[in-house]
Amino acid sequence: NNDHNNGLGAGSSDDQRFSEGESELTLTNRQGHPVTDNQNLRTVGRRGPTTLENYDFLEKISHFDRERIPERVVHARGAGAHGYFEAYGKVGNEPVAKYTRAKLFQEAGKRTPVFVRFSSVIHGGHSPETLRDPRGFAIKFYTEDGNWDLVGNNLKIFFIRDAIKFPDMVHAFKPDPVTNIQSNERFFDFVSNSPEATHMVTFLFSPWGIPANYRQMQGSGVHAYKWVNADGQAILVKYHWEPLQGVKNLTAGEAEKIQGTNFNHATQDLYEAIERGDYPEWELSVQLMTDNEHPELDYDPLDPTKLWDPEQFPFLKVGKMVLDRNPINYFAEVEQVAFGTGVLVDGLDFSDDKLLQGRTFSYSDTQRHRVGTNYLQLPINAPKKHVATNQRDGQMTYEVDLAPGQNPHVNYEPSSLGGLQEAPQRGKEHEPLYNDRLVRQQIDRTNDFAQAGATYRSLDEVERADLIANLGGALAECKDVIRNRMVEHFTKADPEYGANVAKAIEEALAKRASMHSGITSQNGDAMEAAAELGH
Ligand code: HEM
Repeated sequence: NNDHNNGLGAGSSDDQRFSEGESELTLTNRQGHPVTDNQNLRTVGRRGPTTLENYDFLEKISHFDRERIPERVVHARGAGAHGYFEAYGKVGNEPVAKYTRAKLFQEAGKRTPVFVRFSSVIHGGHSPETLRDPRGFAIKFYTEDGNWDLVGNNLKIFFIRDAIKFPDMVHAFKPDPVTNIQSNERFFDFVSNSPEATHMVTFLFSPWGIPANYRQMQGSGVHAYKWVNADGQAILVKYHWEPLQGVKNLTAGEAEKIQGTNFNHATQDLYEAIERGDYPEWELSVQLMTDNEHPELDYDPLDPTKLWDPEQFPFLKVGKMVLDRNPINYFAEVEQVAFGTGVLVDGLDFSDDKLLQGRTFSYSDTQRHRVGTNYLQLPINAPKKHVATNQRDGQMTYEVDLAPGQNPHVNYEPSSLGGLQEAPQRGKEHEPLYNDRLVRQQIDRTNDFAQAGATYRSLDEVERADLIANLGGALAECKDVIRNRMVEHFTKADPEYGANVAKAIEEALAKRASMHSGITSQNGDAMEAAAELGH
């Protein structure tokens, strides 16, 4: 929505609004004053000094000084595109209304506009796109009922299952606070003490940890959410995106080659494909599970470190997404877009997944800091439907949420003086019953290793060899205590997995030792000291 920029409408050089020689292309400042000299500061004489009443210059430079906002604390590097989601009107072969009343899914062929942002996680806004890292896959659906954000990743599971661990996890994965260097030792120090991460690490250190680009990458909501139907009945649901371009991942060696020449290959790939009309598409499937504890399973359905076996809980197609338009401005759209797991529409609900519940506070909290109090008024974040709230003011208030006919004096509810009214209830409310003690305890059935083993065995030979070599190399950089604990975890997952990692560590250590002895004999004491420190 750029209406405010073009609000004066099209004009020509003989338009009354323009002085002689001016047109719509005439440079102005933000106050609308024509800028007659954009090359020279105003100075006392040709050789200065400058004067402080130089309003055009001060405005220009002080806006420039504020061009950056804080990066996202995670997922800072990303790329985005616009498109649409088209519903199939069914979930598998059943009418979707049986399970959810969410309007966007109901009718076959119904299109909902979307904005998608893909990202990597740990490093900053201009880091290489070849790094071993989960990839973010976040979708904003601008539905007729307001926005729905599905903030997922490429992999179908996560490192941890409790939100209270997230800040520590991110600190361990990010660079050292003293040296500003990322290290495998910090990563595996945390992971070895968080056995629930063994499954995710098994994906991450295989080629699945380096998707070749964003177009050939899967997506997943990871958590169990809920669908709610018109009778208020709920069912657990997981969302998965499958790229119709196929899936492509990189081995460590392939990624190194790309990184040697291009830090932007994934952003470039997405942008160029859309520019040439080769629009990427993903099909959305769901897995459904009745909403109870499922004591027959060896895991908890709410545990985000676990896959739901697709044999038992088949992937049911519900629609597809097409990305067909690049952003006009990276900052206004991709940088300022703000997704959150709390952003749901009628017919969609949360589950009690403890990671999901912690996320739901974190996103809008960080966005009020990162983008600003009124971030939801920005065109990329505002719903494409009417908004009528009694929220007023705050930094950068861009407009007032007034409904047509609303008494502008009444910024509260309830009122008899022409203010806003509550909406009628849509269907029956989903009202789960809780009756338990308030505790700090982890879930039963943590079963941290069985699925890691199954995932290890499901990899093909090339993927498994890459996984083992990558883990061997990375763990050789870690202290014994960390290395040994990781080997224990992998052994519990699958004895062959553990034995292969142990062997790969030994090989990597031997290689490092021979490299270091070669270097020290040439370069003397300094290099020897560095080698002892593990560099
Ligand atoms: C971004 C927190 C787990 C996917 C972010 C941001 C925060 C955050 C603060 C920056 C948001 C912004 O500045 O706009 C958390 C917390 C988590 C968690 C506290 C766990 C307790 C996850 C999980 C996933 C995920 C499990 C995947 C399912 C993403 C994505 C983004 C993101 C895709 C980038 C969104 C964008 O493109 O703007 N997260 N996160 N996060 N997170 Fe999480």
